[in-house]
Amino acid sequence: MCANGRSAEVVVKLLESNPETESKALALLSIMAEPRVSSIDGKLNEEFAVPSHVEEVKEKMSAFAKHHVAAGRRVVLITSGGTKVPLESRTVRFLDNFSSGRRGACSAEYFIDSGYAVVFLHRHRSLYPYTRTFSTINMLDALQFRSDEAFGNSGEVVVNQKVLPNIAKVLKRYQEVKDSRLLLPIEFSTLSEYLHLLKAAAQALSTIGSMAMFYLAAAVSDFYIPASEMPEHKIQSSNGPLQLSLNMVPKILSPLVKDWAPQAFVISFKLETDAAILLDKARRALETYRHQVVVANVLDSRRGYVVVVTPSTQAELILTEEDVKNEVEIEERIVSNLTSAHKEFITQQVG
Ligand code: PMT
Repeated sequence: MCANGRSAEVVVKLLESNPETESKALALLSIMAEPRVSSIDGKLNEEFAVPSHVEEVKEKMSAFAKHHVAAGRRVVLITSGGTKVPLESRTVRFLDNFSSGRRGACSAEYFIDSGYAVVFLHRHRSLYPYTRTFSTINMLDALQFRSDEAFGNSGEVVVNQKVLPNIAKVLKRYQEVKDSRLLLPIEFSTLSEYLHLLKAAAQALSTIGSMAMFYLAAAVSDFYIPASEMPEHKIQSSNGPLQLSLNMVPKILSPLVKDWAPQAFVISFKLETDAAILLDKARRALETYRHQVVVANVLDSRRGYVVVVTPSTQAELILTEEDVKNEVEIEERIVSNLTSAHKEFITQQVG
């Protein structure tokens, strides 16, 4: 709520002095209660360092979106991984949000299989589509050096099929996707980079209207230290215990939905550790931001159970033991649900 106390007081006085003005006064109060999009925009530029390459990346994303829509494809922007909040400007220490990037990376593959082109805005070194399958493998254990007279002194390096059983299948698909330029990877590390790159992505994809989907699976910090209050050098432990005061990060969903990409199909994720409050929070997010879908998940069960919540529906997606045995991934179900909903959304917009 950003109605300032003084203006709200004036509206209340107006109501008391003339009850006939009630409807006008209440309308005024409700406008004042909405988050001010322009003030969020201003705050972004003032308090979060703008990455130097943001305009270049925006142009790339815009060209990518236009190219694929012209070829009849829908485009999804996936955010993935956690944001990092530095405590010093020459950063030694930082706060991190939990996310392996698995949900984003895995979903990217299913979106591509469903005919989408994907802008993959992900945390540097978090899980990546296709290579995610081999993320726990030490590359050197997967290779073998064969020294043989026939190869001269240099020998040859071969892949150990036992360590990488599916490598040929995954590599083939990865190369097809790469050759068709269906995946545009963009990296972020810090919260500032995430916020500015997401804004640039939203503005770039706004040119394709309802053909754009936003799938906001990244885990984004709610707290930060403004650039103006951040110490330059490493905080010294010799100064005793550290007390931190963190500001609230503006909720970026608000300008995204209202201002930057108002025609797009927007999905946010809601992560809780307490299942009892999850659905209530998901519904509240839909009422506040007025976007299309919230995918609600609990940290411990997120790989096997999510609830897809819209203003009028609620669908539970669950993996059975049989599904798990067959290596079915819940992202396949999430993506299938959302691509159908997006199709319907486009039809309604056009019709
Ligand atoms: O990566 P994995 O290990 O596979 O885990 C996946 C996941 C659990 C991280 C993912 O499924 C998930 O739930 N991601 C969202 C986590 C999160 O940040 O939830 P939240 O309740 O704090 O935020 C809700 C939504 O608001 C998010 O879509 C976020 O993009 C958005 N947000 C958050 C902060 C902020 N300042 N502005 C925002 O718009």
